[in-house]
This record gives sequence, structure tokens and C-alpha cells, in this order.
Amino acid sequence: MDYKELIAGNISGITGLEKEKVFELIEIPPRLDMGDFAFPCFTLAKTLHKAPPLIAQDLAGNSAVTAGAEEELSAAAVGPYLNFKLDRKVLAKDLITAIREAGDSYGTSKLGEGKNVIVEFSSPNIAKPFHVGHAFTTILGDSISNIYSKLGYNVIRFNHLGDYGTQFGKLITAWRLWGDEKAMETDAIEELTRIYVKFHQEAKNDESLEDTARDNFRKLEEGNEEEVALWKMFRDLSLEVFEKTYKRLGVKFDNYNGESYYSSRIPAVVDLLKEKGLLEESEGAQVVKFDEEGMPPCMILKSDGTTIYASRDLAAAIYRHDEFNFYRNIYVVGLPQQLHFRQVFGVLKKAGFDWADNCIHVGFGLLKFKDGSAFSTREGNIIKLDELLERTVEKTAEIIRKNAAERGGDMTEEEIAKISEVVGIGAVKYTYLKAGREKDILFDWDDMLDFEGDTAPYLIYTYARTRSILRKADAEGLAPSEGDSLACLTGDEEYAVIRSLTDFSSSVERAAESYEPFVIARQIALIARNFNRFYNNSRILNAETEELKTARLALCDAVCDVIKSGLGLLGIGVVEKM
Ligand code: ARG
Repeated sequence: MDYKELIAGNISGITGLEKEKVFELIEIPPRLDMGDFAFPCFTLAKTLHKAPPLIAQDLAGNSAVTAGAEEELSAAAVGPYLNFKLDRKVLAKDLITAIREAGDSYGTSKLGEGKNVIVEFSSPNIAKPFHVGHAFTTILGDSISNIYSKLGYNVIRFNHLGDYGTQFGKLITAWRLWGDEKAMETDAIEELTRIYVKFHQEAKNDESLEDTARDNFRKLEEGNEEEVALWKMFRDLSLEVFEKTYKRLGVKFDNYNGESYYSSRIPAVVDLLKEKGLLEESEGAQVVKFDEEGMPPCMILKSDGTTIYASRDLAAAIYRHDEFNFYRNIYVVGLPQQLHFRQVFGVLKKAGFDWADNCIHVGFGLLKFKDGSAFSTREGNIIKLDELLERTVEKTAEIIRKNAAERGGDMTEEEIAKISEVVGIGAVKYTYLKAGREKDILFDWDDMLDFEGDTAPYLIYTYARTRSILRKADAEGLAPSEGDSLACLTGDEEYAVIRSLTDFSSSVERAAESYEPFVIARQIALIARNFNRFYNNSRILNAETEELKTARLALCDAVCDVIKSGLGLLGIGVVEKM
């Protein structure tokens, strides 16, 4: 249960102050003995014409302030503050029981039942390398999909492949002149990039190349067999390369309708815009103007009549709506395309599609490298993701191998490889997800693989070590306790862990509402830190009493469930030993 939310609702109901406002005002006192939440009554003084301490007293005497959690929540006035305290015993018992019943599916809800949510992410361009920027959309989009699924929404994962446009005319031309079948089989993207670069070099001296390319693109658009076959080969082989990366990242899609898919649907869109009187001519091109909105016009048809990126997006949005009647249509695409999406959604709105309000652009920042790192390049961003993953997994393996050697060599190379894959990939994903998505990321090896920092290795390590305690207990015939005996977990450090666990479910909802997986990352990091503090200062397997021992084991188990569940939402796996 989200107690802060409950309290905010109750106070709002009594005082008439907006719930969001109350929520914002509620503080978490710096020390646990001061209570769990505090509501300062100053803001109400004006409207109620009363001194804050009096307001606090009135509220404390009103049973409605704890409605919905009467058993575990109590309120008291302390000066101008209304302080709330949770009953540690009740909370320990209820929460740990609920978590252990749900296991690592804890946090699941039916909130979104019956609603379709489209999450479009990754969307790389055919014939171009998958760089670290595409990794951002891929990892972020996967996590947002996981989060919405967890909340019961029916999520449809779209990969809006960049598989259309005039560059295919160039690729076809270049392939016919310089294509190498063998190289294509080994690595299609590399070969296609090579011939694409060559095309541009050669075209500087030979103008006819551009003409041939235009001609080939036209043939492709007209559905000419040979050109279509080549285009299809480029697409299929590129996709094979992308699939390897997706597989390694554990990312799946339900729909690969790329830009090409929508090209046949564009004439209908153009007709519709014409019918609504939205199309205007501008320097030969057809555009929709946004003068009143203070935005540049959105181009729909180029002066030569060919379609562009925005028109394909319009057709795609209409298709998605007709096909899925979505509750949300989410585009996980970098911030540089913000204007593009404002225009596309704006055209839809002008055309009378109110559902345009349910189309959301979820933007994100850039990945930057700390100077001097092995991967930094002048352009900063063209590092291939595969290389980044490979290097990270190698570095992770070094650390794990070293740790294992220090413990007396308790791992085989095979185990080390398996563990490093999970931890290394997790470290990369966490780096992308641990802060607000619109912030740029400063990438650094040492930070990312710091087993004690705000990292996936730290979280996975916390999980693995806790699991090993549970295994050890099991070997000694000790099982986590259940029911009333959990009420003995009332120590400050135990309570801090339990408190942070209570906020997990609402962190999932907040992450969904704001399209910000970092909310979950931050919550499980807090749980892990609180747990490690407890672990370092308290005994678990040789706790003072048998009751405490087994109750603490239950707490360990609950922490594992929640960390695993939270990491899963970020697309990160766990290992049982590390
Ligand atoms: N393929 C584009 C790129 O790599 C991203 C596509 C974004 N999605 C969209 N519906 N426009 O830049």
C-alpha cells in the first residue's frame, strides 16, 4: 500500500485542499522516531483561518485521516505538524506476507486490464549500424513495455524499422556496382555501409549515379520485382544482424511494420488532409501549417510528389489506432525528434482525431563518454553497441574471476561466463535507466561496474548474497517464518528495509505514469542500501532468538523477491551466485 498516497487522499477529503498539493507537502521526517510522514499545516492556515497547531490538533482528532489503514496507521499533532506513524508489527507481518505470496511477480496489478498500449521503440535504420544511441531507445522502450505489462496492460511492442526512403535507390545502385555476396553473408550491415559510403564518394565525380539511384527508387516504389527483391534482401539480412543484438539484450517485438509498410496507406492520408482543407502549397510542396501554434509547417508531400518521414508516421498512427484502438501509443525516440512528433500529433489533432492526445513522445538524452575512455571518439556517439556489450561483459568477467579467486576459486570458467553475461548486460542497461531519461548519460567503466555504487552489479550482488544466506539456512534446516511471528521485525534497521519495500508497488505506477523507469531503479537501490545496512549490523543466521532468525530470513526472501521483480522491469536478470 502507498501510505503517502492514502494520507494525501484523506487529508484532501477532509480539508478540500487538492490531493496533489497535499501529496507534495507531505514530508518524510529525517529520523524514524519522528514518525513516518508529516503533514505541515501552514498552507491550510489561510483558508481555514486558524493557527497551524490548532489545525493539526483538529486533524489528529478526526478518524478519517487514517481511513483505509486504521489498523497500522496513527496520527498525532506535534506543533504545526500532523505526524503519522505506522505500526511496525502490523506492517512487517502484512507486507512480508504479501510479498512472499506473490514472489517475484510482486507489484503486478490489474490496473490496465483490457487496455492496449503500443510501445514503439528501437526502430533502427536498415543498412546502418546499431549504435549506442539506438541502445537507449531499445533498453528504455523494453523497460517501459515491461512496466506496462506488469500493470496489466496489453502491451504491443512495435519496431518501426527505418526501411524506406530514397537511400534504398542508392543502395540498390551501389549493390549492383560493387556488392559482395560473401561479405553480405558475414555482416550485412558492414557491407551495406561500405557500399553506401562508396556510393557517396563516387557520386561526387559521377552525376549519373544519383540519377540511376532516383530511377531505382522509383522502380522500387512502383513495385518492380527486381528492385523489391533487393530491398527485401537488404531488409532481411539487416534484421538478422539486429536480431542478434536483441537476443543478447533479451528484447522482443510483436510487430516489425517498418516505414515501408505504411507507404501504400499514404494516399488515403493525403486525401483525408485535403478533404479537411488542411493541405497548403508551399514552394511546390504540400504542407500543414502551424502558424498559430508557432511551429514550422509539417511537410506531407515533397515538391516531386514523393512522401516523407512525417507522412509515413501519420499513416502509421492511424493504422495503429484502427487496428488496436490504443489507450496509449508511445514513441520512444530521442529528444532531437521532439518537433517532428509535435507536428505529427498536431496534424492528427487538426484532422479531428482526438485520440492524438493519447500519442506520447517519450524522449531521451544522449550517451556521452568520459574523456579518455577507450571508447570515446571525436563524434562521441558512433560506437557500436555490440562492442560496448562485449567489452563490458569481458570486464565484468575479470572482476568476477578475481573475486572468485580471492574466495579460493569457487567458480568454473563456464559459471563465470554465464554470470558475467547477466551482470555485464545488466550493468549497461542500468546505466541507461538509472537517471531521468531526458538527462544525458556520462558513461564510465569504473562507475558502471562499481560493485558498491549505484549499479546493476551492486543490486545483483545484493540479491545473490542474500540468496546464499537463504540457501545456507535451508541447509541448516531453517525455513523463513510466516504469519504473526513476523511481527518481531521492529528494529530500526529492519523497519527501514520494510518501509522502503512498502513503496515499491507505487514506484511501478509512478514509473508508468511518467514513462520513467528510473523511479523503480531508485526504489530498489534504496531497498538494497537499507538491506545492506541492516545486514552489516545485524546477525541473521545467528540472531539472538530462533523467532528473530526465521523472521529475518523471511525479510531476506522478501527483499530478494522485490529486487528481482524490480530488476526484471528494467530488463535486468539476476544470478543466484556471484
Ligand atoms: N528510424 C528512426 C531513426 O533511427 C527512428 C524512428 C522513430 N519512430 C517513428 N515513428 N518516427 O532515427
